[in-house]
Amino acid sequence: MSEISIAVIGAGVIGKRHMQEIANSDQCKLVGIADPSPEAEHQAATLGVPLYKDYRKLLDTQHVDAVIVCTPNSTHVEVGMACIERGIPVLVEKPISDDLASARTLAEASRTARVPVLVGHHRRHNPMVRAAKNAIDEGRIGKLVAVNIMCLVYKPDAYFAVPWRRHTGGGPILINMIHEIDLIRHLCGDIVSVQAVASNKTRANEVEDSAACTLELDNGTVANISLSDTAATPWSWDTAAGEDRQLFDYRPVPTHFFAGTDGSLSLPDRTLWSYDGEKGRHRPIRDQLIPMEEENVYANQLRHFVDVISGAAEPLISADDAARTLATTLAVVEAARTRRKVDITLDARFRASDTIA
Ligand SMILES: NC(=O)c1ccc[n+]([C@@H]2O[C@H](COP(=O)([O-])OP(=O)(O)OC[C@H]3O[C@@H](n4cnc5c(N)ncnc54)[C@H](O)[C@@H]3O)[C@@H](O)[C@H]2O)c1
Repeated sequence: MSEISIAVIGAGVIGKRHMQEIANSDQCKLVGIADPSPEAEHQAATLGVPLYKDYRKLLDTQHVDAVIVCTPNSTHVEVGMACIERGIPVLVEKPISDDLASARTLAEASRTARVPVLVGHHRRHNPMVRAAKNAIDEGRIGKLVAVNIMCLVYKPDAYFAVPWRRHTGGGPILINMIHEIDLIRHLCGDIVSVQAVASNKTRANEVEDSAACTLELDNGTVANISLSDTAATPWSWDTAAGEDRQLFDYRPVPTHFFAGTDGSLSLPDRTLWSYDGEKGRHRPIRDQLIPMEEENVYANQLRHFVDVISGAAEPLISADDAARTLATTLAVVEAARTRRKVDITLDARFRASDTIA
């Protein structure tokens, strides 16, 4: 198969990461960048590809087989729709949107036009997540009862120089907690209700800097997520999983805990805890490492995208699926804002049946 021509729209932090993976791939090549910022000129010149200030001009003048959308959250749907209208398969970074109505519009357009949309919840391409899913699905920890997740990072001041990250539509619930919610949905099942608190008292931005939520799953599991972007800790997936060691320090400490009636699992350290024989807190609990080869998660995601483009695979996380993850994440925002529990199964604004056609 000849190399697939890919354009990247949005050449910021994650756009550069995708471009690096495209450069390392023998399945595809970068054929253009769209980004209005002056910094993108350097990027395009270095990579020797044309730069367009307006992404529509790129889509209308350049032959592209596929596009990766890495613009700010609020622009994902507008750019994604422009690709679908032109029949171009698209990988849209997460969150699929910052509002549910437009996310559903994109999902509907993808379905109707039969143009695939893959959403960048990249952790689903991590072999560690696959191994954890197998362990849970095979019943190795019994019935899942509780989940505890820490997403506690300190983002440097320079991170907040980019305005969209400080304003509604940005913020760590939509940028970071959404990864945790997607992981819980993927590994543990559907989330049916949400309670949450959020605070912006430390950074004083329009959006929260810290939040905590309690989620109820339809299988009875309860889950907690602690979130902060102003906490000096190693306790976050980004630091502990080592998926991007160029961007983040790597400290493989446990940050994600999945507790079941027969055992438990911590990630990203891949430790499975269980009793030999009789169970009970008075008895020694045994730990064992889940064997696994490390893989480049972003390269896996790109390979999967190539399969989606060629029709060999359905998106591992489609626009519909990502809209459901977004619905739950926006329910967290709503629960924190109103200080009330949001019942996702009853509330038409967030209900899954209204998200998936
Ligand atoms: N999957 C992940 O691990 C991951 C990591 C980081 C960011 N993200 C997501 O990727 C997106 C971008 O995040 P980032 O941190 O790279 O942001 P960023 O601010 O570093 O980069 C965004 C880029 O988009 C450009 N841009 C803005 N409007 C545009 C438009 N209309 N057309 C073309 N370019 C436009 C900006 O000039 C900027 O260069 C966000 O949605 C974020 O949530 C995902």
